[in-house]
Amino acid sequence: MLSRPRRNRRSPAMRNAIRETQLSSANLVLPSFVQEGTGQRHPIDSMPGCARLSIDLLVEQAKEARELGIAGIAIFPALSDELKDAVGTESKNPEGLFQRAIRALKSAVPELLVISDVALDPYSSDGHDGVLVDGLVDNEQTVPLLVDMALAQAAAGADVIAPSDMMDGRIGAIREALDDAGYFDVAICSYCAKYCSAFYGPFRDALDSAPRGGDKKTYQMDPANAREALREMRLDEEEGADWLMVKPGLPYADVIRDLRDSSELPIATYHVSGEFAMLKAAAERGWLDYDAALLESLVCLRRAGADIIFTYGALDAAKILRH
Ligand code: PBG
Repeated sequence: MLSRPRRNRRSPAMRNAIRETQLSSANLVLPSFVQEGTGQRHPIDSMPGCARLSIDLLVEQAKEARELGIAGIAIFPALSDELKDAVGTESKNPEGLFQRAIRALKSAVPELLVISDVALDPYSSDGHDGVLVDGLVDNEQTVPLLVDMALAQAAAGADVIAPSDMMDGRIGAIREALDDAGYFDVAICSYCAKYCSAFYGPFRDALDSAPRGGDKKTYQMDPANAREALREMRLDEEEGADWLMVKPGLPYADVIRDLRDSSELPIATYHVSGEFAMLKAAAERGWLDYDAALLESLVCLRRAGADIIFTYGALDAAKILRH
């Protein structure tokens, strides 16, 4: 045989020398849930190892993330029902939980990127990402609310504004408003190809943010579609996005590759709550090696073309990679 591919796999040095894809903690973003109080840690049953944290503990976690070389923290607020209404009024409160969390993170751990979520669902009494009109999420009424939310987050010091709502035209509207207000350096990570996925279940448990009625099919994408992701990509590029995200991660690796091959922008992906919960659940039963399956999942997302990976396993992965 002239060609023996196994020659290139003979030793760790050989394998390390020819490895095509690198995974580093600098590629990782840790999604975190914040709640009111001090010293509060509320574990999330369907996401073992993850918890809703009060701001003081969130800051401690952020320090750990920084020590481990993680790029950033993506935060989501858990609000009590009294603060929720049909138009998510609390989302633009400068003294609201979310804005206080951003300020606390930026003052305690300024080197870590703070990536703030823009969507109505944590604030909405309907559990949708926008305003309901006759039972449907209304694009025109929702976009100005998202703009206000983004401005409040930028004022609090967010580095990256991350609209996860899938309204049409919101990237352009947010970019224009940020620039008008002088926030030229605040970046936008567009959840560009966000699919209507069953893998978000544990996240909705964490925030108690499941839709009170209906589903999200009129705004999130159909899992059967890939070409449509390129259309979303082009629009978000034209509207001024800095990063493009594909979400969920592994089941949509082909879409990550499509975007990587078609765009010059950094591509992010979100290894979502359901993907993480599956690994944890199987590991708890002794059916999978969590550490190995986590690293493999993340390397595969990098191989598919993701520059940045949002994962609940960021701290775990960074600790494994350090050794
Ligand atoms: C909603 C939002 C969701 C997630 C992030 N932002 C859920 C949804 O669309 O219902 C899910 C993330 C995860 O599952 O980890 N704006």
